[in-house]
Amino acid sequence: HDLSQANTLGLPCVAERFIAPGSVAQLGEALAEARAHDWPLTLLGGGSNLILPARLPGLVIQPAMADWWQEEGEEGAVLVHAEAGVNWHELVMALAAAGLWGTENLALIPGHCGAAPIQNIGAYGVELSDVIEAVHLIHLDDGREAVLSPSECAFGYRDSVFKGALAGRVVITRLVLRVSRLAQPRLGYGDLASRTGASPTALEVAEAVCAIRREKLPDPALLGNAGSFFKNPLVAVELAERLLAEFPEMPHFPQPDGRVKLAAGWLIDRCGLKGWREGHFGVHERQALVLVHFGGGSAEELLEFAGRVADSVRERFGVLLEREPRLASESP
Ligand code: EPU
Repeated sequence: HDLSQANTLGLPCVAERFIAPGSVAQLGEALAEARAHDWPLTLLGGGSNLILPARLPGLVIQPAMADWWQEEGEEGAVLVHAEAGVNWHELVMALAAAGLWGTENLALIPGHCGAAPIQNIGAYGVELSDVIEAVHLIHLDDGREAVLSPSECAFGYRDSVFKGALAGRVVITRLVLRVSRLAQPRLGYGDLASRTGASPTALEVAEAVCAIRREKLPDPALLGNAGSFFKNPLVAVELAERLLAEFPEMPHFPQPDGRVKLAAGWLIDRCGLKGWREGHFGVHERQALVLVHFGGGSAEELLEFAGRVADSVRERFGVLLEREPRLASESP
């Protein structure tokens, strides 16, 4: 089964076996079959945060159950249940259009709902963890179902238990989000406020976010990419201060734990790498944190190219960049 079209980086990949179960029951059957044959298992969502190898042995499962529904809560709260195969951006736009607040800053993030908790998707001052109420999942080892609370998900910046203790051990089947009928615009990030009126609707915020993203981020349908290729690094305050003495204009965000978050895109940009191209890969010309695939390349080449970008930043600033998209051969 050809997965070249199923990953936004557009890397060529052939899976030995592939199934896209349309119900939780079918998903359970596919998992049981993989267990019975001892097939290596790869879980695929929208393929927008994934680096695929040329061949994937065993079974690739792409959960395709895609219903969502809502439940009234108290004081204007609404609980939204979204199955793993629901397209994240379509859900966000539907909620925003319905006047439900909470996810509008996360508009235009590619991918499926089932993958959203893994890296705790975040943008424009909001993270999924701000709105998540529960995560439904199935354990891969014995097929038992479970529901995790937000604290059990151990969310952090681009991090969760699904990258840690539960990596490669569960499949997420459904999210429960808590959104609100009460207006609560969060316009503090960057120039978002200047793009919306003083009291925008949720849909206006979502549309402003889409407009900003379209200006900076390449459309994967036109140019292969996986969004930010590196996490924004968290560094010790001493290192941040040393760098600020030399580069007073450097974007920096002090964290509650005392560390300082730097902008990887700025660091890469400052190495003069924005728009740099070598072979089949390049640094995006409008957002240096995004690596792009011009076609014809492989995962190995991409990792080598990314390594050279990270080396430049380490040599220039003494800051280590960590990769954000996952390798399909890694767990999970
Ligand atoms: N910057 C540069 N040059 C660049 C890129 C950025 O100087 O080439 C500077 C910007 O001017 C700004 C700062 O770096 O001062 C931060 O840039 P930006 O607001 O574009 O956000 P980011 O930190 O680069 C993060 C997320 C994005 C998310 C945006 C908006 C990560 C790894 N990335 O990027 O998420 O959309 O904030 O919230 O945290 C993704 O994860 O795939 C992704 C796109």
